[in-house]
Amino acid sequence: MEKKEQLYEGKAKRVYKTDDPELLIVSYKDDATAFNGLKKGTITGKGVINNRMSNLLMQRLEKSGVPTHFVKELNDRETLVKKVSIVPLEVIIRNISAGSFAKRYGTEEGIVFDEPTIEFSYKNDELGDPLINDYHAIALKLATREEIETIKKYSFAVNSFLQKFWAECGVTLVDFKLEFGKLSDGTIVLADEISPDTCRLWDSKTGEKLDKDRFRRDLGGVEEAYAEVMKRLSEHM
Ligand code: TMP
Repeated sequence: MEKKEQLYEGKAKRVYKTDDPELLIVSYKDDATAFNGLKKGTITGKGVINNRMSNLLMQRLEKSGVPTHFVKELNDRETLVKKVSIVPLEVIIRNISAGSFAKRYGTEEGIVFDEPTIEFSYKNDELGDPLINDYHAIALKLATREEIETIKKYSFAVNSFLQKFWAECGVTLVDFKLEFGKLSDGTIVLADEISPDTCRLWDSKTGEKLDKDRFRRDLGGVEEAYAEVMKRLSEHM
């Protein structure tokens, strides 16, 4: 499948057209940003790891009944995916308090919840991805009630799968962000990526952060953390 003109460039990926109007190629970069692009940097080798990790996880998720945009890994950094129109909602699932949850509600990090939480952000960089609820999303015509219910169902299914999968790798899944898209026939599928950029992953024994928080918070050992989670995942496949 040949890469045609570039359709879009995001903070971490580029998207290209192909000969097939229903298929796109995503290319993962090593660029990293945080705080809505305010902080910029490079995480060497991140694109290769995120491409591989996201593809392996999405293939497993497909088998467990969650439809995804994944079609075929083309090389180290590039993957063929189904063309979707992205539902402009960032879906965040949390199992343990951390990040903006801890800040917003004034809790410490690391409190294990009795059940996972779900929240939505309106995917809009100019507005800083504001938190919204499902009624707001419907009012803004970002999605229908039915689509939101499907997205919620898939998101909790992804959480159950990933929590168990990462636990078997000695990694605690703290929280993560998902994005969904619509195929031309309206079918909702999981899109974007699942990687240490979009998940908080803590070493189950030591609590060490093995994700993008090392970059966000200047903790050092960023590349090493990405390599470590990739190694654990590979050993488990
Ligand atoms: P938060 O605690 O900053 O709201 O982040 C929750 C989860 O979502 C965390 O695993 C990191 C991920 N995330 C993204 O993937 N993209 C983003 O732009 C933000 C803010 C968070």
